[in-house]
Amino acid sequence: FAILHDYRASDTMQTRKPPCRRKQDERMCLMKPLQKGFPEGFLWGGAIAANQAEGAYDADGKGLDISDGFPHGIKHGYDPELVPGQFYPTHEAIDFYHRYKEDLALMQEMGFKVFRTSINWSRIFPNGDDAMPNEKGLQYYDDLFDEMLRRGMQPLVTLSHYEMPLALATKYNGWVDRRVIDCFAKFCHVCFERYKDQVKYWMTFNEINNTLKLPYLAAGMVVADDANAPQRQYQAAHNMFVANALAVKACHEMIPGAKIGCMLSLSTAYPNTCRPEDVMETYQLRQRSLFFSDVMLRGRYPSYIDRKWEELGVQVQMEPGDFELIAQNTNDYLAFSYYMTSTHIAGMKIRSNTGGHVGADNPYLEKSKWGWPIDPVGLRFVCNELYDRYQKPMFIAENGLGTADTIDSDGRIRDTARMEYLKKHIEALQQAVADGCDIFGYTWWGPIDIVSAGTGEMEKRYGFIYVDKDNQGNGTLQRRKKDSFEYYKKVIASNGQDLELPAED
Ligand code: BG6
Repeated sequence: FAILHDYRASDTMQTRKPPCRRKQDERMCLMKPLQKGFPEGFLWGGAIAANQAEGAYDADGKGLDISDGFPHGIKHGYDPELVPGQFYPTHEAIDFYHRYKEDLALMQEMGFKVFRTSINWSRIFPNGDDAMPNEKGLQYYDDLFDEMLRRGMQPLVTLSHYEMPLALATKYNGWVDRRVIDCFAKFCHVCFERYKDQVKYWMTFNEINNTLKLPYLAAGMVVADDANAPQRQYQAAHNMFVANALAVKACHEMIPGAKIGCMLSLSTAYPNTCRPEDVMETYQLRQRSLFFSDVMLRGRYPSYIDRKWEELGVQVQMEPGDFELIAQNTNDYLAFSYYMTSTHIAGMKIRSNTGGHVGADNPYLEKSKWGWPIDPVGLRFVCNELYDRYQKPMFIAENGLGTADTIDSDGRIRDTARMEYLKKHIEALQQAVADGCDIFGYTWWGPIDIVSAGTGEMEKRYGFIYVDKDNQGNGTLQRRKKDSFEYYKKVIASNGQDLELPAED
């Protein structure tokens, strides 16, 4: 990556070259100097998803997407019929669709170098398989990306963040059907053509490994879980791998210099004890996630999957040429979300939420108000694990603390817990960089309060910017800076060096 080469060649780095003491140390001198602190050009910023922020759910020709029918978050099943009078959180969300200029001005004030959002597929192809794209939807993202660039932020674009057009989900059971590949390929082609001069950083599917954990959310699978679920989930995964490879190919051909990553949910689980069965099964649990990045980054199916499929009775339909396509079009970088860790006991039921695995408690960790264990060291651990495995550049695409915020009588929002969470995770990231991990950016999840994907709440807040709206949809939508706003601004301005928390008052 250009920015990575730049920082390695920088003057500051050269002055830190380790001295050669003995002849046999010369080999050591050829190694790159230890990276202390974050590289120059590190991409600091924030991340949202279109469906959780934009609102305007039926504006300007948009179709319904899979997030539009759920009063309590998109993992809670499938309901194609909208009930009159029912409150649907994504329909207005925080109205980012109409207020993005004001919001991006605040992001610029914090010094963002990058802003991650998604293109809602159903704004461009309302039914997913329409003959022509919707010009008004295209124009909206044109204007949005221009505004980001004007404000000094690189757009980082997710092509699919839990926003499959609902019509495709109902017609094909989402990614289970191979015909969806063509629909997605066309969508990608249209986006690359339209935004090739504005967007250089892309990623394909948000948290693709959630296809096995939250299949409705990640793969648009409307048919409920049953004995055939593994068959359908792995079939969907294969179809998405082919679609991912086609997107990588098109991106590289159409946008010289662009980088396109894969994106996974990689919060992890530790063995609950040192009992070998716990350790072994926890490792296998991790393989369920890494299976996805193994295919997309190494370009081949890992050997461990054969036995897994045999045990599950899974037979994935593939077509001639699929393997070659996947092998020749691997992703440029690994993006991932990291929120928490859990622990696993052999034999326990596997459960997940949007933060990752929900296992047994870890007595060494505190939890957030929503019960997510807080584990900064886990972030360093995961970075090392992943860099050792792939040696590809990595991007922390989501990390954050969802908690309740209150406005004090003086109008301030003292979100100390959020600042502490941020501080500790940046320290851990700094350690990972010093460990040698090649990390080129960090986007805090939800720099402005948005709708929770898991539960549909507004009051599970991640933002540095407060939005006046409650869980029932009441509020003025007014934006207000929290204390963490100035803190993150300082962190970015110092390139992650100044992490001192403000004195409490
Ligand atoms: C990630 C998703 O899994 O977790 C986001 O990519 C989501 O869309 C985030 O918002 C946090 O989860 P939640 O349920 O607190 O919104």
